[in-house]
Amino acid sequence: MRARIAVLGGDGIGPEVVAESLRCLTAVAAKFGHTIDCDQQLFGGAAIDVYNDPLPQRTLDACLQADGVLLGAIGGPKWGPAAAVRPEPGLLRLRRELGVYANLRPIKLHPMLRDASCIRAELLEGVDLIFARELTGGIYFGEKSRTPTSATDVCTYTVTEIERITRVAGRLATARRRHVTSIDKSNVLETSRLWREVAERVIRAEFPAITLEHMLVDAAAMHLIKRPRDFDVLLTENMFGDILTDEAAMLASSLGVLPSASLGDGKRGLYEPIHGSAPDIAGRGIANPIGTILSAALLLEHSLGWTAAARALEQAVADAVTNGARTADIVSPGKTPLSTRQMGDAVLAELTR
Ligand code: IPM
Ligand code: MG
Repeated sequence: MRARIAVLGGDGIGPEVVAESLRCLTAVAAKFGHTIDCDQQLFGGAAIDVYNDPLPQRTLDACLQADGVLLGAIGGPKWGPAAAVRPEPGLLRLRRELGVYANLRPIKLHPMLRDASCIRAELLEGVDLIFARELTGGIYFGEKSRTPTSATDVCTYTVTEIERITRVAGRLATARRRHVTSIDKSNVLETSRLWREVAERVIRAEFPAITLEHMLVDAAAMHLIKRPRDFDVLLTENMFGDILTDEAAMLASSLGVLPSASLGDGKRGLYEPIHGSAPDIAGRGIANPIGTILSAALLLEHSLGWTAAARALEQAVADAVTNGARTADIVSPGKTPLSTRQMGDAVLAELTR
């Protein structure tokens, strides 16, 4: 079969990790007799430098015409908070234009990376959870205002927005351990009270086999570290999910190993590692490409439906790590880390073994 993907390297380490992911993606596709056509486009700060727009029309068109979008990361000090045109609104617009309201962030620890985590190894045994983060609503997209002495960001959620992400969480949990923890701040926020009500109604009515638990976001931040293996599916609004997934990444050793899939109602999705552009290490060839390689596996699975290829790519990553492949972020003290490219080579070697 043949598929077409848009490839957006973005900024900082984005292009470096995307290059390795792309090598693995094309290799695994070929292994299963598939062909992937890539349309590489500028996005984020890199697009601002050329077009003065983080999401130029040609980039958006390439994404809209593709079966899936593979993205690295965007942002950097050159286009910081004071810049007239910034990369981040481009990412939010892309998510909106693609209609990808459900951001799935699976957090699973490779057993051999237990000691690479900053959290005590015995707490991590058996951690296997996934976030269903609402991605196209909430405070990220509300009205904003600024005067010399004040600023406002409005948070709005509609029933429809909450219903559809709750259904995503329900379907995920159905195929897993049938437990959903819905995160909110209903002791303070009106949007959270609506969130709790709607989540409750949808799960009760449509997923009777699922246990639904509600948890306040501050408590969730604590319990994620204290008893992470108790979580199965975490259902969150946009900003709570943003914050908690960075925290939860520490359960999996490093931000560098975690993929994400952003999905809407159709098959087309946006796939990106959950880490940022890491300007401090950009251009040095030391970033961990695993999160982006695993994002390509999610693309194979959710957008292309090439499940066997997806499983093979995930297995190749797991085998590379089992055989000792480590970039700087997950290397044991005293050992020499692999470069970004060498980590890509290690995964490719497992694929062709
Ligand atoms: C993420 C990122 C983005 C977000 C930024 C870059 C806008 O932190 O994908 O988690 O907040 O959604
Ligand atoms: Mg984030």
